[in-house]
Amino acid sequence: MHNKGYTIWFTGLSGSGKTTVSKVLEKMLGDLGVEKMEVLDGDIIRDNFSKGLTFSKEDRNTNVLRVGFVCHLLSRNGIVAIAALISPYREARRKNRVLIGDYVEVFVDTPLEECEKRDPKGLYKKARAGEIENFTGISDPYEPPVSPDVRLDTVDNSPEECAAVIIDKLAELGYIESKKSGGVYSEEEEATVRKRLEDLGYI
Ligand code: ADX
Repeated sequence: MHNKGYTIWFTGLSGSGKTTVSKVLEKMLGDLGVEKMEVLDGDIIRDNFSKGLTFSKEDRNTNVLRVGFVCHLLSRNGIVAIAALISPYREARRKNRVLIGDYVEVFVDTPLEECEKRDPKGLYKKARAGEIENFTGISDPYEPPVSPDVRLDTVDNSPEECAAVIIDKLAELGYIESKKSGGVYSEEEEATVRKRLEDLGYI
C-alpha cells in the first residue's frame, strides 16, 4: 500500500448522508490498509476550527476554503483527508480542487424531499417555521456539482454500498491498490488499476 495522500470531499445538503458515509468510508479504508486518515466534519469543524462563522455566503466560503487548506496540508503529507461539509458554492469547491490537486469530489445527491423527511437534527422543521435563516435548500442556495468524481444515491443504496462505490473510484484513479487475491475487487477492476499504474510509469 503506497502512502500517497489525497482528499475525499463530500458535498451535499444537510441530512444527505455525508457524515454517515464518510464514517463508513473511513472504516473501509482502514480495513484496506490505509493508516493515516483525518475526517473533517462540518458540525465538528464549526464547533471548533470555524467557531464564530455564520451561514452567510462569505462565511460559508471562508469555512470551505479554510478546511480545503487544511486538506491540502494533510494530503501533501501523506494523509487521506476526508471532508464532509455542505460546501454549497461551486467556485469555492473549484478553488479547493485546484489547490489540493489530489482531490476526489463526492456528491451526496440526496433529494431535498428525502433530507427533509429524514431531518435527523430537526433543522428543516425549524427552517420551514422560519426559526433558522439562510438554511441550505430552503432559504439558501445549493449549487450541485456539474461533474463530480462520484455521485451517490443514498435512497436506494446503503451507506456501505455508497462507500464501496467511492472505493471503486479510488482504485480506478490509482489511489488504492486492489488486493491480489480474495480481495474486494474483480480481476477487471484490478486490471484497470494496473493499467493506470502502467500508464503513469509506476510498473
Ligand atoms: S457549509 O455551508 O459551511 O459548508 P457546514 O457543513 O459547515 O456548512 O455546516 C452545516 C451544518 O450546520 C448543518 O449540518 C447543520 O447541522 C448546521 N446548520 C446550522 N444552520 C445552518 C444553515 N443555515 N444552513 C445549513 N446548515 C446549518
